[in-house]
Amino acid sequence: MKVNATFNLSFIGIFCAFVSQIDMTVADCPTSELWTQLVSHVMENLTIGDIDRCYRTCAAKPGCQSINYYKEKSICELNSRTIENTPNARVANEDSVYFMIPDPLPPIPGKYTNGIK
Ligand SMILES: *[C@@H]1O[C@H](CO)[C@@H](O)[C@H](O)[C@H]1NC(C)=O
Repeated sequence: MKVNATFNLSFIGIFCAFVSQIDMTVADCPTSELWTQLVSHVMENLTIGDIDRCYRTCAAKPGCQSINYYKEKSICELNSRTIENTPNARVANEDSVYFMIPDPLPPIPGKYTNGIK
């Protein structure tokens, strides 16, 4: 977990509990980073009112490995990479929360080639 230890941990706790409800196979809280976005690997840019649906949309989409969610704007960016496999694409953004899908579906060859770099 790379969340800054000084950050409000109650928020993280709520977030982790919430994600465990989505996927009961996730024993630990999946990797998330507040105030972070992953750039250059956005495969889809959606307007979704809640992060729950954003997360599930990514988890259900082949090749989607993580999300950037912008709560204020209800924007959900689906990423074809993670911070773990493209650390250079990690950018600080106080509007965004980054969330990794722990067990992503493999990409469909030939699809989303714009986003997969
Ligand atoms: C996604 O759409 C929003 C709103 O139009 C925009 O601000 C943002 O830059 C877009 N993201 C990408 C990666 O194009």
